[in-house]
Amino acid sequence: MRNILFFSIVAIFALSSCNEAKPVKTIENLKAGIKGETTASAKYAAFSLKAKEEGHEAISKLFAAASKAEEIHAGNHRKVLEGLGVKMDDFKPEFEVKTTAENLQAAIDGEGYEVSTMYPQFLTDAKAEKAGKAEKSFNWAFDTEKKHHDFYVKALESLKASTESNLPVQYAVCPVCGNTYDNAKLDPKCAFCQSGQEKFLSI
Ligand SMILES: [Fe+2]
Ligand SMILES: [Fe+2]
Repeated sequence: MRNILFFSIVAIFALSSCNEAKPVKTIENLKAGIKGETTASAKYAAFSLKAKEEGHEAISKLFAAASKAEEIHAGNHRKVLEGLGVKMDDFKPEFEVKTTAENLQAAIDGEGYEVSTMYPQFLTDAKAEKAGKAEKSFNWAFDTEKKHHDFYVKALESLKASTESNLPVQYAVCPVCGNTYDNAKLDPKCAFCQSGQEKFLSI
């Protein structure tokens, strides 16, 4: 009788751990995030080349820095996804390269969507599903995209007003969280993840 009771208790524990909620929405969000960030990274690298070709050196640098940051976000999301035991299917980034003015507008729209809609929803889901590592990775990307959005808005204004000489000429990207700085306005430590500025990538 005791044995039956013991095994029943073990079985109940085993079943309840099997039923432990998987962060279903967060897994889908991580996949969408990896796709979005990887596509943004490839797109900005192509926009950077186009800007250079058109003689917009400072804007070319901005696209290159943002491209690196998006690569870091994609890598962080991927690590979290793999930590949950899920692999991402292969995909091909798709985007169009137009003039630099149009590319800046596309970048503003993309970052705007991520900041106003995508990451707030991902963060709500991650909190509800108690997916702490995903929440941290989403927060780093969310905070960085706000900065990218503002950098792009200023760059487009400068392009239209022919005042590109006022734009930053060099950027620093935190290799841990992707935070992106005007190299002339660095914090001693990354404001998002506290990495020391000596670790920042100069672009
Ligand atoms: Fe971005
Ligand atoms: Fe950082």
